[in-house]
Amino acid sequence: MRALERLDRVYAIGGGPGANRLGGSAEEQEAHDAVAAWMREAGLEVSVDPAGNLFGRLLGRRPELPEVWTGSHLDTVPGGGRFDGALGVVGGLEAVERAGQVERTLAVVAFRDEEGCRGRGVFGSRALCGVLGEGEAPELGRGGWLEPRPAAFIEVHVEQGPRLEEAGAPLAVVSRIAAMARGEVVFEGRPSHAGTTPMAGREDALVKAAGFVLRLRDAAAAVESAVATVGRLAVEPGAANVIPARVSVSVDVRAPDLERLEAVLAVVPGELIVIGAVEMAERPRAALLEELERLGLPALELESGAGHDAGVLAAAGVPAAMLFVRSLNGGVSHSPDELSAAGDIDQAITVLSEVLTRLGCGN
Ligand code: GLV
Ligand code: MN
Ligand code: MN
Repeated sequence: MRALERLDRVYAIGGGPGANRLGGSAEEQEAHDAVAAWMREAGLEVSVDPAGNLFGRLLGRRPELPEVWTGSHLDTVPGGGRFDGALGVVGGLEAVERAGQVERTLAVVAFRDEEGCRGRGVFGSRALCGVLGEGEAPELGRGGWLEPRPAAFIEVHVEQGPRLEEAGAPLAVVSRIAAMARGEVVFEGRPSHAGTTPMAGREDALVKAAGFVLRLRDAAAAVESAVATVGRLAVEPGAANVIPARVSVSVDVRAPDLERLEAVLAVVPGELIVIGAVEMAERPRAALLEELERLGLPALELESGAGHDAGVLAAAGVPAAMLFVRSLNGGVSHSPDELSAAGDIDQAITVLSEVLTRLGCGN
């Protein structure tokens, strides 16, 4: 199956173990170049916006109408999986090719730096919609869209959880995307000699950070369906015999709604970027559900705990929807063990291409 071969090609970029195409890296660029070549092979019109997002367009019979987009991202976390992001781009390209020319222009988009392992995440989609934060990529300007706003956006993505596997269903339509907060908290200490400074007189930034990590864990555990993660600590000066002077701590908090998110954020000293929970749009969501029914598949709807570019576009007013593909191996993701079945992927591409055709019909 061509989509799987292409996913393997993209997965091989950057070497193992796992996928290693961090946002902004040469490996992310290599993946964009490979996909751009496949887009050209398919006869699509290829372009790159000022934020580096890649577009492949199959021009419609009425190109003056707002376009219909599909896609996802090609960057990964360190040691990531084969499907997260890449499936939505590679599968989106297959679906557009299968759909062929319709009234509206169909576009496949690969957004930049969705994961934000080193930054705030969903960079490309936020830049596209003109909603970057203070100090982020000032050269891109503020407030304007980088491309004409589309009529709809559909993102295919692996579920990244166990619910479809447990339900014995290959696909599901996403109802809403959870609220999330991401950022950095810094703790300051007083550096001094590890061998000569008495324990009583120390001001150790890492000890302060450690207390915060535990408070954050307890705060999330106390709020239903909330989760919080510290995935990165940067300790300065970072020497075994110097009491830490400064520690920056990454903070990632998710919850089904803003109220629960804020209950966890109460223990975070500092400002994080907050993205509220967002509903997927009625029309594309209904079109996806109808297509599942037409194929005789269970018409399941699931909430997404993970963040996605579709959430950014939805928050910016684009009618957006998502199709989840069953994750195997207990739903593990952000790991080389991430797995989905060829048959499920093929069905997702079929559903997507039918829905792109319907949404692209011009009315
Ligand atoms: C994207 O993978 C996220 O962090 O939700
Ligand atoms: Mn993803
Ligand atoms: Mn991811």
